[in-house]
Parts: sequence; structure tokens; C-alpha cells
Amino acid sequence: MPRCVVTRRMHFNAAHRLFNPRVSDAENERIFGACSNPNYHGHNYNLDVSVEGDIDPVTGYVLDIARLKDIVTERLVRHLDHKNLNLDVPWFQDLNPTAENIAVVCWRVLAPAVAPARLAHIRLWETERNYVDYEGT
Ligand code: NI
Repeated sequence: MPRCVVTRRMHFNAAHRLFNPRVSDAENERIFGACSNPNYHGHNYNLDVSVEGDIDPVTGYVLDIARLKDIVTERLVRHLDHKNLNLDVPWFQDLNPTAENIAVVCWRVLAPAVAPARLAHIRLWETERNYVDYEGT
């Protein structure tokens, strides 16, 4: 049975502040610079969600991409879009919302939700030039 990887690009806007409460304000400033601005800043995130699986002989799909869109919207995007990640999103209550950590959260939320496909790859774009890849390791 041929296997394919299918990718849907999702989008959300969110604010955050990079901050580690276990080090001093001065150390946060040194590590994170303007990203640690106490009044937060925003990003237009893009999230590429890739699932892998056999092509279903009846539908010709690995996973109906409209269904993939609905799963990602319902499980993930509606919890992140137009939110302050530090203040509004429980997933980041004790987790610094770097692109790396956001990608890991996205993986953990989505991995159980895409059966019978398998979550293969997450790419989180924080800016047009910066992205993080995660594959669940
Ligand atoms: Ni930022």
C-alpha cells in the first residue's frame, strides 16, 4: 500500500514573553533580550502539520485534509489564536513559550488525535525567517 505524507498549513496569532522565572530579571534580559519585554509582543505563527499513512483504497486519502484542518483547529488553534500564551494558555503556565516549546506542545496535543494516520512532522514558523521542526523525540 503506498504511503504518503500529507501537510496542512495552519495559522494563529498570539502574544508571548520569553521568560524564565527561575532566573533574575537581569538574566532574563541577557538571555532573551527584547523577547523578554514585560509587556509582551506578538507573532503571526504558521504551523505545518504533517501526517503519514497508507492511502485508503476507497477514498484515495491518507486522512481527509478537511478533517485534519478541523482536528487541528479544534484541538489546538482555538486554544492559541488571539491569546497571550503566558497568561491565557494553561499549557504554558510553567513552560516558557519559545517556538521550540510551542512545537512540542502542538505535537503532544495532536499526536493522539490524527489516527489512523500518524503524526509525522510539525514545523512551527514564528517569523518568515525562523522555524522549528519537531518529530516527537
Ligand atoms: Ni517572540
